[in-house]
Amino acid sequence: MLVSAKEMLQKAKAGHYAVGQFNINNLEWTKAILLTAEECKSPVILGVSEGAGKYMTGYKTVVGMVNGMLEELNITVPVALHLDHGSYEGCQKCIEAGFSSIMFDGSHYPIDENVAKTKELVAIVKEKGISLEAEVGSIGGEEDGVIGRGECADPEECKRIADLGIDFLAAGIGNIHGKYPDNWEGLSFETLDAIQKLTGDMPLVLHGGTGIPEDMIKKAIDLGVAKINVNTECQLSFAAATRKYIEEGKDQQGKGFDPRKLLKPGTDAIMATVKEKMELFGSVGKA
Ligand code: 13P
Repeated sequence: MLVSAKEMLQKAKAGHYAVGQFNINNLEWTKAILLTAEECKSPVILGVSEGAGKYMTGYKTVVGMVNGMLEELNITVPVALHLDHGSYEGCQKCIEAGFSSIMFDGSHYPIDENVAKTKELVAIVKEKGISLEAEVGSIGGEEDGVIGRGECADPEECKRIADLGIDFLAAGIGNIHGKYPDNWEGLSFETLDAIQKLTGDMPLVLHGGTGIPEDMIKKAIDLGVAKINVNTECQLSFAAATRKYIEEGKDQQGKGFDPRKLLKPGTDAIMATVKEKMELFGSVGKA
C-alpha cells in the first residue's frame, strides 16, 4: 500500500539520512526502482512529473500500475507516489487519482500568491492523509539551451511557507536540474543553514540530485536535507546501457526483436544507479 512521505522524511531528518525520490517514466523504471528499494530495505519516493504522467496516459494509470506492482512484487518497504513540480490543477488531479504525496511548485508566483495557493492545498491534503511538498526559490536548469544558475531562496520566505503546515520544503540553494555546468558555483550551504535554523524540524528537499559531488550531498544531509531528487542520472545510465547493447549488435541476436531483452540492460543500469544513491544517502536498511 502506498504511504504518505511525511513519516519517512521525519524519520530521515531525525536520523540524519535522506530518502531518494527517483522519477518514473514507464513500467521498467518503476519496477527497477521498487525492486532496488526492496533489496536495499530502503524507503523510497517515486516521482512523477506532469509530463511523465501524461506520457503514461494519465495519473490513474500510474496509480493502477504502481499499486499493482506493490502487490505482485511483494514490496514491503514504505513507498510514496509523489507528483513532482505540480501545478495547482495537477495537484488536484493527483489527489483525486490516488497519489499519496504531491509537490506544489508555486515558486514562480509572487510569494503572497505562492503562500495563498499552498495554504489552500494544505487544507485539502490534511484531510486525506496525503503529504505535501512546497517550493521557494526556483531550481535552475537548462531551458532552450541556456543553463541558469539555481536561485537561492529567501530564508524568511521559506519560514512563511513552512509555517503553513506543509510536510517538507524544497528550497533553492544554487541547485539545478540536469547536468551541472563546469562553472557551477556549488550549493550555498550558508543559505541552507539559514533556512534550516528558521524552519526547525521541517525536512528539506534537495532537487537536482544528479552530479552533485558526494561531499556536498553529505553536508546537505547534515544541514537538514531529508529528501534528494534524482532523475537525469537514471536517464543517463539507462541510455548508456541501451546504446551499448545495440552497438554490440545484441538486439539482433536470437529470435528477432524482443523488447523485453532490449530494455533489460537499461533497467539493470537504473537499478545500479538507484542502489548507489541509496547507499550514498544513507537510507539502506532504514525501512
Ligand atoms: P536531476 O534531473 O538533476 O537529477 O533532478 C531531478 C529533480 O530534481 C526532479 O525534481
